Amino acid sequence: MDRIQAEQRVTELNEQLRGYGHAYYVLDKPAVPDSVYDQLMNELIELETLYPDLIFPDSPTQRVGGTPISNFDKVTHALPMLSLSNVFNEEDIRDFDRRVRSGAGDNIEYVCELKIDGLAVSLIYENGQFIRGATRGDGRVGEDITVNLRTVRTIPLKLRKSESLEVRGEVFMPKKSFHALNAERGERGEELFANPRNAAAGSLRQLDPKIAASRNLDVFIYGIGGDAESHGLSEHEETLQFIEALGFKTNNERQVCRSVEEVLAYIEKWTEQRADLSYEIDGIVIKVNRYLQQQELGFTAKSPKWATAYKFPAEEVMTTVRDIELSVGRTGVVTPTAILDPVSVAGTTVQRASLHNEDLIREKDIRIGDKVIIRKAGDIIPEVVSALVEQRTGDELPFEMPENCPACGSELIRIEGEVALRCVNPQCPAQITEGLIHFVSRNAMNIEGLGEKVIEQLYREGLIADISDIYKLTKEQLLNLDRMGEKSASNLIAAIDASRSNSMERLLFGLGIRHVGERGARILSEHFGSIEKLMTATFDELINIHEIGGKMADSIVAYFETEEVQQLMQRLAEANVNLTYTGTRVRVEEGANAFAGKKIVLTGKLEKLTRGEAQSQIEALGGKVSGSVSKKTDLVIAGEEAGSKLAKALELKVDVWNEERLIEELSK
Ligand code: IVH
Repeated sequence: MDRIQAEQRVTELNEQLRGYGHAYYVLDKPAVPDSVYDQLMNELIELETLYPDLIFPDSPTQRVGGTPISNFDKVTHALPMLSLSNVFNEEDIRDFDRRVRSGAGDNIEYVCELKIDGLAVSLIYENGQFIRGATRGDGRVGEDITVNLRTVRTIPLKLRKSESLEVRGEVFMPKKSFHALNAERGERGEELFANPRNAAAGSLRQLDPKIAASRNLDVFIYGIGGDAESHGLSEHEETLQFIEALGFKTNNERQVCRSVEEVLAYIEKWTEQRADLSYEIDGIVIKVNRYLQQQELGFTAKSPKWATAYKFPAEEVMTTVRDIELSVGRTGVVTPTAILDPVSVAGTTVQRASLHNEDLIREKDIRIGDKVIIRKAGDIIPEVVSALVEQRTGDELPFEMPENCPACGSELIRIEGEVALRCVNPQCPAQITEGLIHFVSRNAMNIEGLGEKVIEQLYREGLIADISDIYKLTKEQLLNLDRMGEKSASNLIAAIDASRSNSMERLLFGLGIRHVGERGARILSEHFGSIEKLMTATFDELINIHEIGGKMADSIVAYFETEEVQQLMQRLAEANVNLTYTGTRVRVEEGANAFAGKKIVLTGKLEKLTRGEAQSQIEALGGKVSGSVSKKTDLVIAGEEAGSKLAKALELKVDVWNEERLIEELSK
């Protein structure tokens, strides 16, 4: 066979194998016997060995995992990957339904889907080719894990049509693969994965794609990341069918529901049948089907108002309290933790459960040695529900909170109006190390490799006393630490160095000022632009900022007033840590245009712009788009067939524009 013939045959085999692979993996309906598939695959491998230049990147032979990479690049999502609000019971679901109907009218269809317990991913295709896959990360920035995602058989490397789009879905590990993997690891004496989700996450985080390839991961795609309407789609269900036609795997247990009763019945059905599924689900996702109605409802800062996730009730199990330990947090709060006989709850092994505070221990009368019921609340932190008093033997020991801090010995204080006991010694080593741990954590300065153990050691050895000391560490000092090799030390120094250029909001959040969370830190950074400016801000200036309240303002003023803090900022500046905001900033002075600073509602059908386009253009000019008309609304843009919102706007005498006027003002 000459090269020309080989090329023709390779192209043919690619097409055939792609089709058979799709039938086998995605549709779960093999089109040919396995032996035929294997035979064709072998023929392709032989030809590709003879003519390596005929190995196309989307060839079915290219799933086994390429060469290992050294790290995952960061990628910024074109549109943030939001999360869903949660509902926990029938009442919550009915409330959600009421809110939806009051925002988008009574003619509502929902699509109910299984909430797959895996990892959210974004997959980008250009002209039908899979070019990039990323994790959700913090929603704005994720990691490029393309090499690993290419090994997932149900992720097409080439689409059936030459479309360019981003899809989003959930990668997961089927229960059977998870059990087999853990059995294997057990035999090899390796640590076991706690649940299929961790196993899937661990697999996708491997730098060697051969490992991911061996893990039998799977995917369900649940939507388009971007403007589905530009593909001529007007409903979620229609989008899922469009996605399927391109060759993606969607979940077929979904159902279009026309009433809240149907939604509740769907939930009931899957609460009973979830154990029979071959993969784990942790709830049900309820989405408004029609895009026009989704747009009417809009978003909150974190999640869409047109969808929500019903979470299955936490599983409860019985175990024994072996001990009660105390820990001192960053703000000095002393928290008791129950040390338990290990038990499996909702797929994870649990050995500790928070007891929150002294009052709770007393109220629930939890004693050391008690048999207790524990529950995994919101599936993260397990909690003790109750003690089984009738099972006591008399050997159980009641627990007393100490009068002194378990870390530094200073007297514990109960602040008025708070249940927590607090250590107020600013020199308390436990508080300082917790503060340092917070500073380097992922959502703050994000210094990888500086884990709890390393921080504790550095602090104990006197190498760091406050956050500015982190920036003075040398590789030699690190090499003296336990279990710190040449490579980890270099990586850590590089990570510390990289964090110097973080934008201000990370630093500000990392300082751990009371009441200043991530969102507050971002708002303040955008507003002031530098720590220097923020330091001189007055209480009045602060509370005048939208979303900054009195508590936060007080706390900021008090924090930056102290001499030590001012010196600390000085030391950070000397260590070349960036103290300015470098993120993108959209700030338009009020009155600069017709939209800046105004609350605007879009309703009805727009002809020339999509809702998304109108919204982003208004926002770029400093306007705020919200979902419902109220007294606070400044302007309503009414398209064709505008209904209740227009009526309300007229009733409240709010300004109303048509699309033409909108476009005119936008282009000024
Ligand atoms: S829709 C705007 N559908 O659940 C958010 N999410 O907080 C759109 N998930 O991390 C998400 N199954 O990865 C959607 N059928 C499903 C899902 C699903 C699982 C995950 C998702 C996200 C979390 C929602």
